[in-house]
Amino acid sequence: METNRRTFVKQTTLASAGIGLASMLPSQAWARVVAPGDKVNVALIGCNSMGFGILKHHLGFPDAICVAMCDIDEKVLNERAAEIQKTFNQTPKLYKDFRKLLEQKDIDAVIIGTPDHWHCLITVYALQAGKHVYVEKPMANTIAECNIMVKAANYYKKVVQVGQQQRSGFIFQKSMELIKTGKIGKLRKINIWANFNYGVGPDAVPDGEIPAGVDYDMWLGPAPKRPFNANRFHGWWRLYWDYGGGLMSDWGVHLLDMALWTKDIVKAPEKVLVYGANTYHEKKARETFDSMSVTFPKDDFVINWDMTAGVQRGPYDMMYGLAFVGDDATIVANRSKINVFPEWDDDNKKNKAEEFKFLDGKESHNEHVRNFLDCIKSGQKNACPPEIGRAAALHVHIANIAARVGEPFLLWDDEKNQFTNSAAANKLITPEYRAPWTLPKF
Ligand SMILES: NC(=O)c1ccc[n+]([C@@H]2O[C@H](COP(=O)([O-])OP(=O)(O)OC[C@H]3O[C@@H](n4cnc5c(N)ncnc54)[C@H](O)[C@@H]3O)[C@@H](O)[C@H]2O)c1
Repeated sequence: METNRRTFVKQTTLASAGIGLASMLPSQAWARVVAPGDKVNVALIGCNSMGFGILKHHLGFPDAICVAMCDIDEKVLNERAAEIQKTFNQTPKLYKDFRKLLEQKDIDAVIIGTPDHWHCLITVYALQAGKHVYVEKPMANTIAECNIMVKAANYYKKVVQVGQQQRSGFIFQKSMELIKTGKIGKLRKINIWANFNYGVGPDAVPDGEIPAGVDYDMWLGPAPKRPFNANRFHGWWRLYWDYGGGLMSDWGVHLLDMALWTKDIVKAPEKVLVYGANTYHEKKARETFDSMSVTFPKDDFVINWDMTAGVQRGPYDMMYGLAFVGDDATIVANRSKINVFPEWDDDNKKNKAEEFKFLDGKESHNEHVRNFLDCIKSGQKNACPPEIGRAAALHVHIANIAARVGEPFLLWDDEKNQFTNSAAANKLITPEYRAPWTLPKF
């Protein structure tokens, strides 16, 4: 431990927060204030793919150290830990049970890279244990869980960064600057598309044996018990309602977040018009929709979402992207490029807006992680706090719910947190947790 470190122990009265937690959790929260010159001790829960990538982005900075890693899959855990040892010469403690990891007192921040159905519980437990949290997107798999996470983050006053990394990258920051300073005229509509082959799923396979070294019950966690199937496990879980929301939520939160940012909207949609269907061939394994068209009418503009799994061509020759349509110009952007297409002013024989092009962009995880670390130290508001994560997540969950209950027009009351025109939709707001897990009460 460095000598200049200001360390203190903070006791949190769980009863005052009204949280019902599992008995294994620490009964006290231990936390320190991370000073600007300190190194941030980070831990990773859920190591297979994205979480591991985010951990490596942390360790690319000189002020982050990995002190713990956890996964329910021994093989994944050991392989990823070996890579951290080899690449960064660091030897984190290893866990199969995240509750044990959260008892490790020197952890300042936890990265949550598990499937979506775990995000809420682990976030709340981590906050309760005094840790800052980087939780992957979508923030949670249901509306109720998103609401709980917002309240928990506000209560514990820790930094919670939702993994909607475009908030921290040049391309969309530039897009927002152009839109918000009126460079494309009045914003009329935002068209979003996302076409990916993976959204139709892999070929169906029968249920099988649980792989050696896997704690499958802990993978399921609060989700319903069911036999093991490889198509619902690593990576592919996102196409099953118990754990994810398909392409609509996987890409929807990222891209809809960019649409909401144009007007700094941090509320759920008041109304949605939804078409959702499974039209691609049935031998593929999935529950979520392969085709969705969703309209989100806003006060003075409209957001249109269009998604087709199983094809990869899209408008402007881009698999996914956004077209921000203004009176004077349309901005077309995705993670790697931004292109401003001005309208022509026939009276004055000139463009109505300035051209701007940047076609060599890159993913912005690094900047998002840097923002997380900086805000832990400075106490400043981070780029994607839970309110923003919730707004994006509720747009995708409400669209999915409309398609699932077969009611193409849904009205949502964001104050009361309920649908006002569908009893069936209201039944999908809150998940039923499988014992011994209970939904945190806030
Ligand atoms: N921001 C982005 O661009 C981006 C990209 C891809 C994925 N993601 C998100 O990252 C998250 C992880 O996705 P993925 O593709 O890496 O999934 P994955 O299935 O490849 O990895 C998830 C890991 O979590 C582990 N896990 C599951 N339950 C656990 C538990 N209770 N305790 C410890 N470990 C547990 C699994 O064993 C697995 O190793 C998802 O929320 C996903 O939406 C974000």
